[in-house]
Amino acid sequence: MTVKEKDKQYFGRGNPAMDLKVVKAEGSYIYGADGKEYIDFLGGAGVGNLGWGVGEIEDAIRNGERPSYIYPNFYYKPWTKLAETLAKLSPGKLKKSYRMTGGSEAVEAALEMATMYTGRKKILSIEGSYHGNTIGALSIGASKKREKFPNLLEDCLKLELPLNKEKLEQVSSLLSSKEVAAVIMEPVIINLGVVIPEEDFMAGLDQICKETGTLLIMDEAITGFGRTGKMFASEHFDIEPDILCMAKAITAGHAGMGAVITTEEIDDKVGDKIGLYSSYGWHPIAVDASLAALDYLRQHEKRLFENINQLAETFKKGISEVNFKNTSEVRIKGAAIGVDLEDEDYASTIKEKAMKKGLLMNTEGPSLLFLPNFQMTKETAFKGIDILKSCV
Ligand SMILES: Cc1ncc(COP(=O)(O)O)c(C=O)c1O
Repeated sequence: MTVKEKDKQYFGRGNPAMDLKVVKAEGSYIYGADGKEYIDFLGGAGVGNLGWGVGEIEDAIRNGERPSYIYPNFYYKPWTKLAETLAKLSPGKLKKSYRMTGGSEAVEAALEMATMYTGRKKILSIEGSYHGNTIGALSIGASKKREKFPNLLEDCLKLELPLNKEKLEQVSSLLSSKEVAAVIMEPVIINLGVVIPEEDFMAGLDQICKETGTLLIMDEAITGFGRTGKMFASEHFDIEPDILCMAKAITAGHAGMGAVITTEEIDDKVGDKIGLYSSYGWHPIAVDASLAALDYLRQHEKRLFENINQLAETFKKGISEVNFKNTSEVRIKGAAIGVDLEDEDYASTIKEKAMKKGLLMNTEGPSLLFLPNFQMTKETAFKGIDILKSCV
């Protein structure tokens, strides 16, 4: 039986598989069992911020001396070290981290914290967004999912795009009744094809949240750890999140992990009541991977962030030379690149053609989504864009 046949028989897939059997990943390339190499603009959907096979991180995992498991209610020095590192990296007053296994769990925890802290049950989020696969996360995501899942939570309010100054009036009227526990969003909405909210909107949102006692939750599962050209995308705006969700690049792809970080003030009120037990949250292997990944990110911060800016320019220039069949809107924030083609089928066709020619990418509805790693060279980026040119 071939891998594909066995996969079909035994392996649960919520989404159809791409026709690629991976045998190796290195730097900006993925290698298939067919002997072909693929330029990786997909970046594991935002997991691989440093490229694949970073020696320092692999060594830390291979050579790390650690217990096989730590029961959550024990002390463990590397947990404290990681929590301290996250507090130092995080914007504003965010200080107390909770152990999570991934992004969905972090989002659930953030919603729990916000509702417990405020005693309110409504949540406001952005229509069409994605925050994970659990019932709470799906409930605050795209409303069209309600057709498929009859059991999503009520009391989830949605704000339509665009996120501009004019939208603040609606935000104000939704929050004024003081029934909304929190507003949750990605500060740069990568899951909608890199939608960049207007600065006035974000500043106004922060202000209205403060006035109405509504918490501001930033879901930085993808945007965190440099993706948009700042350590956290919240830093692009004049805002102070009360809770921030982290996942994906927290280990640069070497182990499953998430985190939710909040302020001392919120933690003081909910910390000893909320529970948030997680058997595998911050497993010792994942913690070694994360500490090494964050150490690498900080040690090479200057070079990496310069390259992110360089990549933004390279993609901007390269994409402007691609003859898409219809007008496209290109949205770039650091190493998050969205090309809105206003046609979902066209976007998927390009993705499929590109894969056959050795370029991997993602699509978000009608947008192409490129999430290159921060060490990708200009040459590799242009090589990928050349493939893209031949697919449109
Ligand atoms: C913004 C955002 N939040 C949450 C999640 C869920 O993360 P995970 O897949 O680790 O559960 C994702 C995953 O794509 C995401 O993009």
